[in-house]
Amino acid sequence: MNVTDAVRARRTTRGFLPDPVPEAVIREVLEVARYAPSNSNTQPWHIAVVSGAARERLQNAIFAEINAGKTPYPTWPSGGVGLKGEYKDRQRACGFGYYATMGVDRDDAEGRRELLLKNWEFFGAPHAAFLSMPETMHRANALDLGIFLQTFMLLLTERGLAACPQGALGSYPGPVREIADVPAGNAILCGVSFGYADTAAKINTVHMDREPIERISSFTS
Ligand SMILES: Cc1cc2nc3c(=O)[nH]c(=O)nc-3n(C[C@H](O)[C@H](O)[C@H](O)COP(=O)(O)O)c2cc1C
Repeated sequence: MNVTDAVRARRTTRGFLPDPVPEAVIREVLEVARYAPSNSNTQPWHIAVVSGAARERLQNAIFAEINAGKTPYPTWPSGGVGLKGEYKDRQRACGFGYYATMGVDRDDAEGRRELLLKNWEFFGAPHAAFLSMPETMHRANALDLGIFLQTFMLLLTERGLAACPQGALGSYPGPVREIADVPAGNAILCGVSFGYADTAAKINTVHMDREPIERISSFTS
């Protein structure tokens, strides 16, 4: 698989088989992902991988907070903040496309909530990983984490694995700090659930389109 194939094949996956990925494979992916570029080679990223019994404990601890009525308290604002115009429209289209595939009416608040809650079940993935960087760093450094995240996901794709990048996994940082090995003083920006895709899962038929290059680029000479 070349880079073009990997970029085109990667999809956000929200239905996984329970089979764990061998730790040797995860380490091999990280061995390569660490070559991602960063501003002044600061390499601000840290990825805390949670699997097995710890993954179950974490899911339960997050749901204990949700069921107690706690609302999200991310350290970093979520990606949905401040959206306007065409960006807001795309966000809506993304949500509605997802609900339509899953047969959830856009007015069905309970159905939408059920889908949302799957985020903190890690969509059934056997592994959840949390990306963090020192909380004193500027938002410009978040670029580095984004590059690292995509590199990580493409390497998973190359190995026949699948992932769901999730801003939602930054929403309840308390239990993550208790159970995952996140460095003290780091802010959790997002997470990524990963494993083997369940190819029979309806949720994985969601397909998001993209704007043509005329809308996203300009050329001056
Ligand atoms: C930084 C980031 C945060 C995301 N957060 C979530 C999330 O919390 N839950 C979710 O289901 N998908 C999340 N996504 C997945 C996007 O919805 C998805 O990338 C987008 O719709 C394009 O679809 P595709 O990845 O299949 O091409 C996130 C993606 C990124 C890059």
